[in-house]
Amino acid sequence: MWFNMKILIVDDEKNIQKLLSDILKDNGWATFVAGDVQEADRILQREFIDVMLLDVFLQHERQGLDFLKKVRTTYEFPPEVIMITGHGSIEMAVEALRDGAYDFIEKPPSMERLLLATSHAYDWIRSIRKNLYIKEENTPIIGESSQLKKIMDIVHSVAPTDGSVLVTGESGVGKELIARSIHLNSKRKEGPFVVINSAAIPEELVESELFGHEKGAFTNAMKLKRGKFELADSGTLFLDEIGDMSLKTQSKILRAIQEKTIERVGSESHLNVNVRIIAATNKAIAEMASSGTFREDLYYRLNVVTVDILPLRERTRDITPLFDHYIGYFSAEYGKPVREIDDDIYAYIIDCQWPGNVRELKNFAERAVIFSREGVISLGRMNIFTTSRGDKADFKKLADARIQFEKEYIMNALTASKGNVASSARLLGMDRSNLLKKIKALGIEIENS
Ligand SMILES: Nc1ncnc2c1ncn2[C@@H]1O[C@H](COP(=O)(O)OP(=O)(O)OP(=O)(O)O)[C@@H](O)[C@H]1O
Ligand SMILES: [Mg+2]
Repeated sequence: MWFNMKILIVDDEKNIQKLLSDILKDNGWATFVAGDVQEADRILQREFIDVMLLDVFLQHERQGLDFLKKVRTTYEFPPEVIMITGHGSIEMAVEALRDGAYDFIEKPPSMERLLLATSHAYDWIRSIRKNLYIKEENTPIIGESSQLKKIMDIVHSVAPTDGSVLVTGESGVGKELIARSIHLNSKRKEGPFVVINSAAIPEELVESELFGHEKGAFTNAMKLKRGKFELADSGTLFLDEIGDMSLKTQSKILRAIQEKTIERVGSESHLNVNVRIIAATNKAIAEMASSGTFREDLYYRLNVVTVDILPLRERTRDITPLFDHYIGYFSAEYGKPVREIDDDIYAYIIDCQWPGNVRELKNFAERAVIFSREGVISLGRMNIFTTSRGDKADFKKLADARIQFEKEYIMNALTASKGNVASSARLLGMDRSNLLKKIKALGIEIENS
């Protein structure tokens, strides 16, 4: 089985440990056993346990209930807990459920009851963890260009292998979407898809984000934290913006990939991790590798296969289907049915350069739906032209119209983000430095408010 279901059995009776462990092992679980809470705690710190079977009466005390509370409050991603009770005490079970236990079973458990409870608990914890640390996005990949078809061919041939993939392309072309699609077409698809953009994390926190830290490893380390490598175990780790990663972080990542083990900050021991790496960048990474600003050895590790996604302006056949798709999407989202789209819009979007690529086109479609009236979308309605009185005769040359549109579009974003260039860039799906260049070229003055 690809996806490792890990269960910890905490019981002080050896024969119960063995009985439960045998049944669960036969049903695909990786099992761990502990005879007391100290040992259970050690295992929980080391292994990423999904479900814990916990005896209420450990060493004839109510230790189990206290341990339940402790696990639920001190672990960042606690396992789902099923209590085992030997005395059939309903009050105890109710108390445990109130303290967050998922379920309880009585000793000696029937096999059906045990398997049912554990598999339900497993499904539950997977869904919770997915929502916690995996950004779900079920976007279909839209487009009809031969360039995109080639990309999808590469995706389908590389996905089932376990090789590293490097996805390159300008901002907003769909690098993350393609990475996700490789994951979803791989044998790891049931496993997590975990994203880390180390460039966006302050240098002093990168290591703990990637590899986690032990409780007390540094002043603010209040509890054990699992790093992205650990969270991505048996799934895919998406290393975003690797071109912006420091050389120090690069060497740490290289080591983790080569040795398939990590060390949490503040820990001496190694943890095995089984992750597939997909990396992405909008930088000319090959040149960076030959000039020494990116580690060459890491570059070759990551770049087993490269998927280069062309900018939207070089695959114009994707523009119309993408626009139509997102019009449909936002029309449903805003509850505004669209029945007519003017030809001028299509002429405009085909001619546009789309520096922010698909993300910018998607924003444009959203705006088109917002400004549609009575189900009609047209450039005029979008309030693009200050000179136009809505009269078609007033139309400028397309190139001029584009400049004007870009200017207003950028000014709107700047107003919306109170003059903050970085957040405007995010809104527009553009690189901050590219936006600054545009702002300068278009002669826009920024007012901070
Ligand atoms: N072919 C496509 N079909 C449908 N949606 C797409 C397509 N390509 C990109 N998108 C959408 O465009 C947006 C930007 O895509 P994504 O985040 O994958 O780009 P990116 O290359 O990772 O951008 P950045 O470099 O800014 O991180 C997303 O909302 C994504 O769903
Ligand atoms: Mg991205």
